[in-house]
This record gives sequence, structure tokens and C-alpha cells, in this order.
Amino acid sequence: MTVSAPAKIEICMGSSCFSRGNNRNIEVIQKHLAASGPSPALLSGHLCLNQCKAGPNVTVDGRVYHAVDPAVMSTLLRRPAAGPRP
Ligand code: FES
Repeated sequence: MTVSAPAKIEICMGSSCFSRGNNRNIEVIQKHLAASGPSPALLSGHLCLNQCKAGPNVTVDGRVYHAVDPAVMSTLLRRPAAGPRP
């Protein structure tokens, strides 16, 4: 069975999310992308979402995930790509 990687990953680069875990999540993503070879996944960063208390926040295929630690990040990277959102 082939599992698609997420198409678009956005990391909150605000100081709270970055210092609380997105600095480590970026490393997890970089290792995943390096190991998986060429990938259509787009990785980008964005400014604070004003949801700092729920962070670290990561958006995958348009859905915001909260309290994303490296273990959760690894799981998100392995999940099938999301379909169209209602
Ligand atoms: S720093 Fe990420 S939501 Fe504020």
C-alpha cells in the first residue's frame, strides 16, 4: 500500500511555538524529507497564529495541529494526505 505524504506543511515560527518545540519539529521534518527522497511536500513557515498557549502549532494540509511534539510530528508525516476539506 502506498501512503502519500502531506502536501503542505506550515510551521509556526513565532517565538513561543519555536522555542516550545517547533525548532525540534523542523529537524524531524528535514530528516523525513531527506529519507523519503524527492517529495512534492511544501514546507513553509508562518508568523504567530495567536494560539500560543496551544502550541507548538503546525498546519498540515490546511488543518492546524496543537501541542505538536516530535513524536506527533512523525505521525503526521506518515499519515495519508488529507482529502478535500468540506
Ligand atoms: S507563536 Fe505560534 S501561535 Fe503564537
